[in-house]
Amino acid sequence: MAKNQILIRGGKIVNNDSSQFADVYIEDGIIKDIGNNLQLNHIVDLKVIDATGKLVIPGGIDTHTHMQFPFMGTFSVDDFYTGTKAAVAGGTTMIIDFAVPKKGDSLIEAFDTWKGWADPKVCCDYALHVAVTWWSDKVREEMEILARERGVNSFKMFMAYKGLYMVHDNEMYQAFTCCKKIGAIAQVHAENGDLIAEGSKKMLELGITGPEGHELCRPEEVEAEATQRAITIANSVNCPLFVVHVMSKSSAKIIADSRREGKVVFGEPIAAGLGTDGTNYWHTDWCHAAAHVMGPPLRPDPTTPKYLMQLLANDDLSVTGTDNCTFNTNQKALGKDDFTKIPNGVNGVEDRMSVVWEKGVHSGIMDENRFVAVTSSNAARIFNIYPRKGKIAIGSDADIVIWDPEATRTISVKTHHQAVNFNIFEGMVCHGVPLVTIAGGRVVYENGVLHVVPGHGKYIPRKPFPEYVYSRILKRDDSWITILKQAY
Ligand code: URP
Ligand code: ZN
Ligand code: ZN
Ligand code: ZN
Repeated sequence: MAKNQILIRGGKIVNNDSSQFADVYIEDGIIKDIGNNLQLNHIVDLKVIDATGKLVIPGGIDTHTHMQFPFMGTFSVDDFYTGTKAAVAGGTTMIIDFAVPKKGDSLIEAFDTWKGWADPKVCCDYALHVAVTWWSDKVREEMEILARERGVNSFKMFMAYKGLYMVHDNEMYQAFTCCKKIGAIAQVHAENGDLIAEGSKKMLELGITGPEGHELCRPEEVEAEATQRAITIANSVNCPLFVVHVMSKSSAKIIADSRREGKVVFGEPIAAGLGTDGTNYWHTDWCHAAAHVMGPPLRPDPTTPKYLMQLLANDDLSVTGTDNCTFNTNQKALGKDDFTKIPNGVNGVEDRMSVVWEKGVHSGIMDENRFVAVTSSNAARIFNIYPRKGKIAIGSDADIVIWDPEATRTISVKTHHQAVNFNIFEGMVCHGVPLVTIAGGRVVYENGVLHVVPGHGKYIPRKPFPEYVYSRILKRDDSWITILKQAY
């Protein structure tokens, strides 16, 4: 007996490459048919959703979250349940979180720990990037095992958080070389951790202890320098690179230039960086300012969000994540007298889709197809889960959002579904509202009401060597061998 039979009637299907008016029929979690006036009256338990005048889009994929992350002396307050519940309320149907081992710890154990946390709680599908926080032969072997047996095709290196997660250039070189060998994408948190450590000391010596010190000790060039360095190292071993949370104009510009030079690099701006800015660090209310503390910081230059959106529209930047890593006011207060102790992180998982629609589509910077590209399809392509995810097509997973492009909602902590007691987008009026979210073929959110079941989401393994990323990389290896053979 087929279960969860749903017909979405009369909507406009929007994929990254085209839009069409057609009905969508879903059964057992899969898109079974697409066409005009699908006749399904023989199905007794058919649920019919009228999508007339609305868009039917692939559910969002948030490429960057940290649910219940043990970090800076506490745990981020949105866990895999509240975090994914909020995600689906906002039109996101898959998150990719990070398993982050401590230096010296096993990557596989970290992966298993995070998966153990996520599996019983997730309300939508998820995957895990794994961080490389130290280097040894064991780390190399574990990366190979994770790629081969656990479906991990992306590894993140921190160039900041000195002494905790930061790796040096030689370690990045080794890790990038390994990524290339196993067909994974290298990811970097691009900030110069040594400069941040020195800058923080200087600020505290000057008596600057508030949240503004967080930004002042790590100006844009600290991010830009690390971005350029990571690209240089990755290119030297012909490894594809994904720069997470691109927060500054200067860093974005470096990525754009590198792409024009033909380097295989992708940039991920986040909802926070597209929707608000670093002037908040000077807010007179300490709690407000501290709530915005994240690394790299939001930039005080108020032209930054629009600039990042324009690069996103023009394919200089590729996907949107959130870096959702939420801490309540009492947790942020760990840094009341010293900004270096304020847990780093902001919200975004629930509001990303609406923020990108408002600032990107409603403002006329990108069209509806580009919106789908940067909120789901590109992520699915880069991380090798396309067209299972990121596309409305026969055979794809039924992760679908009925999107009202004209309706508005006002973002507020009072109405959001996240556990955290602050929202950095408070008061923002967004056009673009999810009316219905279907995750794994089930209606999990409809007209403001959640119908989630913890544990219903699945872990999505990802194969190595995504064609979208690796076809150019592998071809270049061939060319280099040919050139070398001709030379000798
Ligand atoms: O401030 C941030 N970004 N917190 C989460 C950890 C990270 O660096 O991604
Ligand atoms: Zn980071
Ligand atoms: Zn992060
Ligand atoms: Zn508007």
